[in-house]
Amino acid sequence: MCYDGADGTPEEQPAGRSGGREAPSRRAFGRFLVAGGGLAALSACTPDQAAVPSGTPGPTPGPDTFTRPAAASASSSAAGTPSTPAPANPSSAVATPAAPSAAAASASPPSAAAPGPKHSLSDPTSPWVVVNKHRPLSPATFVPPDLVRPAVRLATSGEASLLNSTTAAAAERMFAAAAAAGVIITLASGYRSFATQKVTYSGWVRAQGQAAADTASARPGFSEHQTGWAFDIGDGSGADAFQPNFRSRPAAVWAAAQAHRFGFVVRYPWTFQEITGYFYEPWHLRYIGIEAATDMKSRSIATLEQYFGLEAAPGYR
Ligand code: DAL
Ligand code: ZN
Repeated sequence: MCYDGADGTPEEQPAGRSGGREAPSRRAFGRFLVAGGGLAALSACTPDQAAVPSGTPGPTPGPDTFTRPAAASASSSAAGTPSTPAPANPSSAVATPAAPSAAAASASPPSAAAPGPKHSLSDPTSPWVVVNKHRPLSPATFVPPDLVRPAVRLATSGEASLLNSTTAAAAERMFAAAAAAGVIITLASGYRSFATQKVTYSGWVRAQGQAAADTASARPGFSEHQTGWAFDIGDGSGADAFQPNFRSRPAAVWAAAQAHRFGFVVRYPWTFQEITGYFYEPWHLRYIGIEAATDMKSRSIATLEQYFGLEAAPGYR
């Protein structure tokens, strides 16, 4: 038994997530994973508090996900896609980045000039769409019209190896730059359909209950993965995959420092669960465009909610 999508690709998995408490079924669930999915690295089911940044208040992060360490392989399919952000839906509201809210009090004040062009925050084809527990995809069963398989090192297959065309092109540039710097980054989980997210989320709920599931996995219709603008990275080794300690792996260190140059942000940063609704996910990158990602980085704004002046979304309404 596993929570893979129908195509059998690696997928975010429930793995003894601890929401500041020990998951009662962690060990049993580890055995369950081994028995059911042939999964390895179950030691990763226990978060390593030593790896957590010191002096940072907030919830104890648990391992968010678990996936089979997959043999990395280079994709031979080129994306051949445009590199500019998708145009915003003219009928949708557009946004101007706002000053960070109280939770980012240490952030720099907003710059005088907002980055442009402006994009919709609600149109799922917009690079600035904000999807969180207060902001479901509309329509709920949205499918990106331009899904492609990026020519990057893949640690997944099928639907999960797809991204929208803009994100795919940016990912190709970023993965190549990382490789040139001697850092291997793999695409571990990309697009996820509404149906796949339903299966994934249900697995989390069955394994850990709804409260714990909701700190790690989005409900169907509420996942950034469904937009094609987001993906999870690995480093090809499987070590610390989908674990808080992944933050210390070269792939995550490099991405945290450099991803903005290619238009990406770490969407679920450490200690911002009360805003994003999810525990720290150092592997989950989200494309918003180079200008906006660089602006967020330079102003030390941690979340899209703060950047765009949106309300925090710690839980579902
Ligand atoms: N793990 C992220 C929040 C998702 O399920 O989309
Ligand atoms: Zn993710």
